[in-house]
Amino acid sequence: MSRLIVVSNRVAKTDGANKGSEGGLAVGVMAAMEKAGGVWFGWSGKVDNRDETAKHEVRGNIEYVTVNMRQSEYNQYYKGYANSVLWPLFHQRPELMQYSDRDLSGYIQVNKKFAEELLKIIAPTDTIWIHDYHLIPLGKILREAGVRNPIGFFLHTPFPSLDLLRTVPGYKNVLEALLHYDLVGFQTEADHLGFCMGVCQGLGGEILKHDRLRYGDRHCTARVYPISVETQALPGVADRGETTQEYQRLYESLGDRKLLIGVDRLDYSKGLVRRFQAYDRLLGHNNEFLRQVVYLQISPTSRGDVQAYGDLAKRIDREAGHIIGTYADFDWMPLRYLNRGFRRKTILAMYRLAHVGLVTPLKDGMNLVAKEYVVAQKPEDPGVLVLSELAGAADELDAAVIVNPYDVDGMAGALAKALQMPLDERVDRWKSMMSVLKKQDIHAWQQSFLGDLLHLTKPQTIDSTALKY
Ligand code: G6P
Repeated sequence: MSRLIVVSNRVAKTDGANKGSEGGLAVGVMAAMEKAGGVWFGWSGKVDNRDETAKHEVRGNIEYVTVNMRQSEYNQYYKGYANSVLWPLFHQRPELMQYSDRDLSGYIQVNKKFAEELLKIIAPTDTIWIHDYHLIPLGKILREAGVRNPIGFFLHTPFPSLDLLRTVPGYKNVLEALLHYDLVGFQTEADHLGFCMGVCQGLGGEILKHDRLRYGDRHCTARVYPISVETQALPGVADRGETTQEYQRLYESLGDRKLLIGVDRLDYSKGLVRRFQAYDRLLGHNNEFLRQVVYLQISPTSRGDVQAYGDLAKRIDREAGHIIGTYADFDWMPLRYLNRGFRRKTILAMYRLAHVGLVTPLKDGMNLVAKEYVVAQKPEDPGVLVLSELAGAADELDAAVIVNPYDVDGMAGALAKALQMPLDERVDRWKSMMSVLKKQDIHAWQQSFLGDLLHLTKPQTIDSTALKY
């Protein structure tokens, strides 16, 4: 079997500095890699102007190869083009974009630096799997350097419609770069469609049979692979979490009160302001919930030095202060808002304790918290997932209580419904969601993507008949 080289900006090591604030990429790819093994290449998470040598470290069956970033690279590539242009754009917030040519060239420069390091380790039989919006041009750079290995790309975020994509200068280069991969994976049909329409209408390319796209002499295959979680293993992890001190203390502090839980990086895509407003309305309009519920929101700071994130943190502090000031009593706190992360096992046990799981992003590629919340529940007494229809997970988890995250009153009503839902309905909804998650777990995700990538790159006759779109 060929060796797998996974490339992503953020590399998750089990005891990494970023612990507790990892996003879906680190969690999902880690789970997939733990089984398959291979090389995981990416940023060390450190900014250092002097030491640019790649570090190699083997843990279990994964060899981590990481590089530091210079301050200017961090500013232009990570803070700049990746997180102040592509992230807001892909999450439907073009008004938050801060575009500059300098950041774009820093972004390409870091992709070239990654390519240079990768060229030192790629063997002819390796399979290369590149992840996320930080590294869109990397496949093209590797191809131009002569790499002929199978190269796949998976986008963990949403992909915008052409109308939105057009708001970024040089948008055609984003589409064109993606066409250099053998296989491009998206989270949902809508993302896939956005890309296909971009290639057809934005570039003048065409859609061929078998999910293939062509533009000039470039061909690629684009499909949907919804990322998932370790469905089998997570209940055992939640069991272990129940023995932690943090879990015990939370359990004891609740008494008979019902717990609502939200776990999100502190990011404007997560819809926290409107979620807090919905909770405020729930308490304001329904006296019966006063003193009977506790909402725990765990939100580790993320990308704190990007301005939009700093502004958001202040806004959420105000909303939290308003809720506490309005409803708290000397012996009851309606909201516990924490800007730090916890170990995964502790979080999973907390999910299990929560009567309601709140996942209400304004836009999200998938959202693995939604899936983890479901998997962590007790089969005989499961909690209720309140899920935004704008999270990728809503395509599969349609038995959740689905909400529009812009509709604050609607969300307040959904919270009341979730808190009062009878046991038989909770069990029915949970079983329905579990049947999806048992089939579509993280290993199925990895196998179907890599299986397709290897199949597509076997020498074969390519059917290039154009389909009418
Ligand atoms: C999302 C992105 C990932 C990213 C993660 C955490 O899940 O899709 O690529 O790694 O957020 O963000 P950070 O900027 O800390 O890596």
